[in-house]
Amino acid sequence: MSESDGQGRLQSFERSLERSRRSLRRSDRPKEFALAGRDWDLVDEVFAPVYSPSTEVALEFLGLVGNTGNAGRDQGGSFLEIGCGAGVAAVLAALAGRSPVVAADINPRAVENTTINADRHGARVRAVHSDLFSGLGDERFDTIFWSSNYVRAPQDYLYRSLHEYAYVDPGYRTHRRYLLQAPERLAPGGVALLHFSSRGDVAELHRLAGACGRELRTVRSMTVLEGEYGNDLVEHLLLEIH
Ligand SMILES: C[S@@+](CC[C@H](N)C(=O)[O-])C[C@H]1O[C@@H](n2cnc3c(N)ncnc32)[C@H](O)[C@@H]1O
Repeated sequence: MSESDGQGRLQSFERSLERSRRSLRRSDRPKEFALAGRDWDLVDEVFAPVYSPSTEVALEFLGLVGNTGNAGRDQGGSFLEIGCGAGVAAVLAALAGRSPVVAADINPRAVENTTINADRHGARVRAVHSDLFSGLGDERFDTIFWSSNYVRAPQDYLYRSLHEYAYVDPGYRTHRRYLLQAPERLAPGGVALLHFSSRGDVAELHRLAGACGRELRTVRSMTVLEGEYGNDLVEHLLLEIH
């Protein structure tokens, strides 16, 4: 698909990396931001929820803001957020009564940021530096959620900063591992969720899931106008992995 057509532009990994670099360097990058009626710290090199609607969409999908909590997602019990970033979803899940709440990220600055925000709001969240599940022992969870770096970069792309981990996944290697491993980490009756979008390659994700013996069910979707010029129509998806 060409760069000039809508889907090619939307899914271009170079454009996502440009967005990553701009979000790090912007002179107006805040040290604090407001979301879901609360103020949050933002540590350098951590995904900034202020430049993209994806964090807020994730909160809606999880039923942590608004009145859109959806069936199954508002079950109680333990909650694991993979890729916690600044920790907003994990903190709000803990404040909503989920327990225990564990928040994991491959970016150590995100782990630090989540601890700061958990302390700031008096939430019990254990933040862990982890590549997906590798730092988590053999714990199992009632809900596992990842709002992913859904743009696919070429297989041989090498990350240039910790921040880029929030934007692209070379060859969907990490998505493949998540599809395989998340269901194995569930407590009986638990649910493994992936927040993905049309900035990613949805058909390739379904193909990968099939190759891993998994099936993806779309349980929520939301279309949002976003991008630097507010002219990218992006469909956000909440997928359940079976
Ligand atoms: C799109 S950001 C979402 C951040 C945060 N949940 C939010 O909504 O604001 C994706 C997050 O996944 C993390 N991530 C990427 N690869 C990971 C991996 N292999 N293990 C754990 N976290 C990872 C990134 O560092 C980033 O914080």
